[in-house]
Amino acid sequence: MSVTIENNLITIDTRDSSYQMKADEYGVLLHTWYGPKTRDDMSELLRYPDVGFSGSIHDAGNDRTYSLDTRVQELPVEGNGDYRTAALVIRHPDGSRSLDLRFEKAIPLYQKKPLEHLPYVFQDQDGLQNPEPEAALPPQAVDVYLKDRFADIQVILHFSIFEAENVITRSVEVINNTEDEIVIEKIAPASLDFTAGDFDWIHFHGRHNHEREMERKDLVHGLSAIGSSRGMSSHQQNPGLILAEKNTDEKHGKAWGALLMYSGSFLGEIEKDQLEQTRLVLGMNPGQFEWHLAAGQSFQSPEAILSFSGKGLNTLSQQYHALINQHVIKKQWQKQHRPLLINNWEATYFNFTHEDILSIAREAKKIGVEMMVLDDGWFGKRDSDLSSLGDWQVNEEKLQGSLKHLIDEVHGMDMKFGLWIEPEMVSEDSRLFKEHPEWVIRIENRDPIRSRYQYVLDLANPKVVDYLYDTFEALFKSNPVDYIKWDFNRSICDWHTPSLPAGRQKEMGHRYILGLYDLLNRLTTRFPEVLLEGCAGGGGRFDAGMLFYTPQIWCSDDTDAYERCFIQHGTSFFYPASTIGSHVSAIPNHQTGRITSLWTRGIVSMAGTSGFELNLDLLDENEKEEAAFLCGRYKLLQPLIFGGSQYRLTDPFKENLCFWSFVSPDRKNVLVQGVVFRTRPNQIGSRICLQGLDPDKRYTLVSENGKAMKQPKTFFGSTLMNAGLLLEPTSGDNQGQEYFLRMEEE
Ligand code: DGJ
Repeated sequence: MSVTIENNLITIDTRDSSYQMKADEYGVLLHTWYGPKTRDDMSELLRYPDVGFSGSIHDAGNDRTYSLDTRVQELPVEGNGDYRTAALVIRHPDGSRSLDLRFEKAIPLYQKKPLEHLPYVFQDQDGLQNPEPEAALPPQAVDVYLKDRFADIQVILHFSIFEAENVITRSVEVINNTEDEIVIEKIAPASLDFTAGDFDWIHFHGRHNHEREMERKDLVHGLSAIGSSRGMSSHQQNPGLILAEKNTDEKHGKAWGALLMYSGSFLGEIEKDQLEQTRLVLGMNPGQFEWHLAAGQSFQSPEAILSFSGKGLNTLSQQYHALINQHVIKKQWQKQHRPLLINNWEATYFNFTHEDILSIAREAKKIGVEMMVLDDGWFGKRDSDLSSLGDWQVNEEKLQGSLKHLIDEVHGMDMKFGLWIEPEMVSEDSRLFKEHPEWVIRIENRDPIRSRYQYVLDLANPKVVDYLYDTFEALFKSNPVDYIKWDFNRSICDWHTPSLPAGRQKEMGHRYILGLYDLLNRLTTRFPEVLLEGCAGGGGRFDAGMLFYTPQIWCSDDTDAYERCFIQHGTSFFYPASTIGSHVSAIPNHQTGRITSLWTRGIVSMAGTSGFELNLDLLDENEKEEAAFLCGRYKLLQPLIFGGSQYRLTDPFKENLCFWSFVSPDRKNVLVQGVVFRTRPNQIGSRICLQGLDPDKRYTLVSENGKAMKQPKTFFGSTLMNAGLLLEPTSGDNQGQEYFLRMEEE
């Protein structure tokens, strides 16, 4: 059974984990366990001392050992004796902020209820009629009801269970059954309390051109936090946190992940308290959030995606990869080949003609590229980033004809056609800005904050969302695009919307994201055959919320193969290769000036949704041949890259190389790829230990760098995992390498 409810004890099991809650003698819902499977009541392992200055709930009488300041709780709140950070804070009409939530009931569900207006992790049977649900399936979800002892406020914790992926999701719903308005000041769908343990915490920080750098640090007493207040999940921090035991590495040890399925501002906190206990809280950023809940209304938070691995970080990542590939990415994109594309951005920037685009497409077609993507600069009078966002009229002078004509020409070459848009933005120099200055996010009577010479449209205003839907519906209807790159090139700061009264301005950040999701939902429903790639100046909005609508996301504007090793390494902790936009660009690289071989650039771009972003005319004949070879190889390997288990084999921060592998589900095919950073003289051969093979089966090294081995060598899986695969010697720096191994038939 995936959910067991015995009196006041609720245990949610996945294949390898248990998550447990227990309503104690006062009805307070404790969080008693998240970790390896258990069949016990884990509250039996709790014992608390009398801690001075930690107040007790009133009904605990004189029991000085009972304080919410020390107990492990399922949903910690403010104002009830717990001084640690809270997951839910509500302001009552009198201005007070206390809640006293007690357990009411837990109801198992046989089908998860989709979240309204928000992306969510869907289950296989979503939308299917299950005539005998109780008989056919174990519970797929459980709703846990809590109620405040004083005000008629109900809280439902909505859990859903992904047994095979070892994932549990949680969303928090607040229902105001009082007769007055209440205000939610903070709501966090993830809150995990641990009684004991000495942890490291792992998070992913960065900046534009350098997203999701993995950082692992000792957890210290007090609060450690990450977050974004930019109105986007951000380049600077990603909305995911990992707690790992000290000895946990890629292959061994316990690790807990929490990933927020949300694209706006967020806050992630980890607190190590006075009793060495740890609390993780991940949710909306309270500095940018508030929700006024009228009598009779309810509010549901986004989902948090929780996963536990007892077998190290690679397993934790693979659990997230499987979940995202099968339960976040929409069904129609899951098994679909993703087109190998060429994008004109780094080839031309804004400076292109109709003939340039056709010639890029023609050259690309010759090497096996499947889709031409026309990036920024095709509309209004946009020959630089100074103008025209918002004016989505085709610049027919620049394109020397209609967009439809260009699309037909590209289709005529038997290639797909993709188009760049940035719907949420407006340039100061645009017709839209002149006509609707009130649609811009800014504070009246103050100078607006510019960023890349552009402003953000107020998607908290439903009128703006309707306008954008009509604009892009018309554009896609008359121009049969196969793919859209949806960009977002600045953060939001001077928040204000005329669509809300002064007292409700703090709702704006969340309303903006709801507007964005509404727009994405309407457009993807209207054009289900169009593939969307998310983008925000590279990977500034790389999150599970966006992935629900855009199955792939441009990972970074930094296309340098060496830098990408680090960026894609960090991104892989939560997100699978199928979601990671990764292209081969020109040398010297436009972001770093670094020169790397075409092979190296190709290898790195293969660990994602691959493509090119350069003028192929600059390649000589040998390079064109090599590029064609890379295309063929990628098409051949894409099913293994997207459908296999990915392993991080090295730590690029500690070693002179970055290697990864993809192992097919039957463990028969193994693709090992990576980059050796610096070549040093007189080195003994380096080896890297593989993972995920069958130790008792023999594996033949079929090819090295795409070339079939003349005298293939064969090793037992155990040798390759324990002693390693011997790498070819390198010459020069940043040398990409690829090895393909196949299991010997019995
Ligand atoms: C930022 C994106 O990340 C780039 O790939 C490109 O599309 C530019 N915007 C265009 O303005």
